[in-house]
Amino acid sequence: MEVTIAGTKLKLLKGDITTQKVEAIVNAANTGLWGGSGVDGAIHRVGGPAIAEECRRIREEQGGCPTGQAVITTGGLLPTCYVVHTVGPIWRSGDQGEDKLLSDAYYNSLKIAQKNKIKSIAFPSISTGAYRFPLERAARIALDTIKTFLLQNPSSFNEVRIVLYTTSILEIYKKALMNLLEKEQSF
Ligand code: APR
Repeated sequence: MEVTIAGTKLKLLKGDITTQKVEAIVNAANTGLWGGSGVDGAIHRVGGPAIAEECRRIREEQGGCPTGQAVITTGGLLPTCYVVHTVGPIWRSGDQGEDKLLSDAYYNSLKIAQKNKIKSIAFPSISTGAYRFPLERAARIALDTIKTFLLQNPSSFNEVRIVLYTTSILEIYKKALMNLLEKEQSF
């Protein structure tokens, strides 16, 4: 599924984030940038030690990456130049600021990519795995935040992708995008 928002193509597709041929992919990291399972595990496994080395340097220099913030490293052996590491919130009860932190993770990832003159970027579904953020709610926040950033920064990217790991997750994001389109009528 694909829409154009303020000159940028927004695409939803099923796939593996580590195979995306874009300039940057986004990692669903932890605050210590230690690597992990899920997206984090796959990116470090395929990307190789250069990514972990840069994460170690960032950890030493600035203590890691706070929830909702983003840092950038090399893409290592991945088919992408950069990895933007962001940290989504762990879902607790929904009234601990989780929505804002998830939105910040998407927004700050786009911001750091724009700063590095990146023109194509792929996101996973941040916080909806180990961090247990409810999928429908996460999809709405992700799409709303990306839309807001693109309307504020017309043509800042050629393409923004959200890469969903399963068909069922892709369907949830498609439904959320249809709801957004109905609400907005036009971008
Ligand atoms: N490509 C695309 N999506 C993937 C991939 C992949 N290779 N692997 C998993 N996913 C999907 C999951 O199905 C889920 O929908 O990415 C989404 C995010 O899941 P997680 O990777 O568990 O990320 P998150 O929920 O943000 O938890 C982050 O998990 O791996 C640790 O170190 C990481 O502590 C951090 C936490």
